[in-house]
Amino acid sequence: MSPSPSLSSRESSAGAGWECSQPGTYTDLMPERVHNLSWLNPGTLWRSRNDLLARWFGDPTNDERRRWVAQQLGAGAPPDFTIVRDDPASYSFMLMGDTGEGDAPQYAVVPGFLKMSEGTRFAVIASDVIYPTGSVNEYGTKFFRPYRDYDAPIYAVPGNHDWYDGLGGFMRVFCRAPELPAGSRPALPSRAWLRRLFWKNPDVPDERRLAEAESLRSRPAQQAVQPGPYWAIDAGPVRIVGIDTGISGGIDREQGEWLRRVSQGPRPKILVTGKPIYVDGAYHPCPVEDGGTVDEIVRDPACNYVAAIGGDIHNYQHYPVQVGDRTIEYLVSGGGGAFMHATHTIPRVNVAGVGEERFRCYPLRGDCLAFYGRLYGRRLRMKWLFALTEDQAAAVISKRLGIPPKRGTNASVTLRTRLVASLLGVPGRPHGRSWFRLPVRRVYQRFLSPASASFAPPLFKSFMRVDVTPESLRIRCFAASGCLEHEIAPPVEDEVTISLTR
Ligand SMILES: [Fe+2]
Repeated sequence: MSPSPSLSSRESSAGAGWECSQPGTYTDLMPERVHNLSWLNPGTLWRSRNDLLARWFGDPTNDERRRWVAQQLGAGAPPDFTIVRDDPASYSFMLMGDTGEGDAPQYAVVPGFLKMSEGTRFAVIASDVIYPTGSVNEYGTKFFRPYRDYDAPIYAVPGNHDWYDGLGGFMRVFCRAPELPAGSRPALPSRAWLRRLFWKNPDVPDERRLAEAESLRSRPAQQAVQPGPYWAIDAGPVRIVGIDTGISGGIDREQGEWLRRVSQGPRPKILVTGKPIYVDGAYHPCPVEDGGTVDEIVRDPACNYVAAIGGDIHNYQHYPVQVGDRTIEYLVSGGGGAFMHATHTIPRVNVAGVGEERFRCYPLRGDCLAFYGRLYGRRLRMKWLFALTEDQAAAVISKRLGIPPKRGTNASVTLRTRLVASLLGVPGRPHGRSWFRLPVRRVYQRFLSPASASFAPPLFKSFMRVDVTPESLRIRCFAASGCLEHEIAPPVEDEVTISLTR
């Protein structure tokens, strides 16, 4: 039986992990020598260069994906890339995103994940299985080892980082696919030729190392082969549809046609994507090559999607969007292990009819601001300026955004706390006077958050458990702070129950 959950970060600062009396046992699971992934390291940036090359010289992902898909079909994958399981009408599964940095924040999720995954039939990873480049040779410490005690299959959709390796590692591990033969050489001179010149090729598998890694999840109950980087799982009363959004966040024409096909019909559906559709208060419908969007399909009543869950942004967010007479739950679940993306830079939410009273995020903006304040205080040796208590941070967020604090606070807003909030990119009220007009969120997402990884609690990680019955779907977001008490009884940070019989 599962323990009763601890108080959440909405209820107490201890629930957020600020009063961590004892760190968790997750360090016992880690390898003896751990390489903390640093996004400030020039080597990491160089290995991830395909991201910039795709932006500058055109993204080859759609063409490469077509080649992978053709190879899979040639090898006998089912044409509709469906995975038919024998799940009963009532069962549960796990879901998390952006897992694979292989350091403390990833392992800190594992004990709570294992605790809450008891009795679940499978797990899904939504994007970025392996950082920084999806290398086949890094699956040992970043996938097989952390989840070796999860006694059920794990399926995944790739994220942009998995594509920085041409998807070679992902296809080998999840689809058992052999390497792709070299593609044709681009004509000279062309943008594609320039891109090719600097492009990072997939790592060549070190077979001995891979076999050793695979032996960590070799029990029959753990085995699964997926047909490709996108797939549809028929699991009990629901169909879970996973799409591959590549490097730039769109899908290719053929995948779009496939998505329209597998989405038809009244069976309730859940979309799992590498790029969330609603995130940070903004709408990203996800373009399909040659026209249309993924969200048009999600919103189509004939397809009966009830939820769309995306990774990519490393925190948890929830937007219950009214579409006609239905509510579709749009979720971000990228807190599965990698560095935390800031939530305190999310402006007051007002998107698709979802306002602050219905929006949820984890970590709370106040906790996130306190986290960054302490970090910058330490780094810049200016604790006297930057260090905020979580109460002070919650108070200044509440004032700046014009919203009630999510957790009660008695702290007053001072000139210093306002200055820190401004320096750290807390947006002002909509239409209010704010001098901070820089592209703060983008700067945070691309540079400041990756450079602000923390390896000690509170770590503000999260994962989901989904309980399915013929009548309903219950989705819970659990926190993993890195504290022992939260490993034993993970706090529930959000919960939604969706009726499937409407
Ligand atoms: Fe990611």
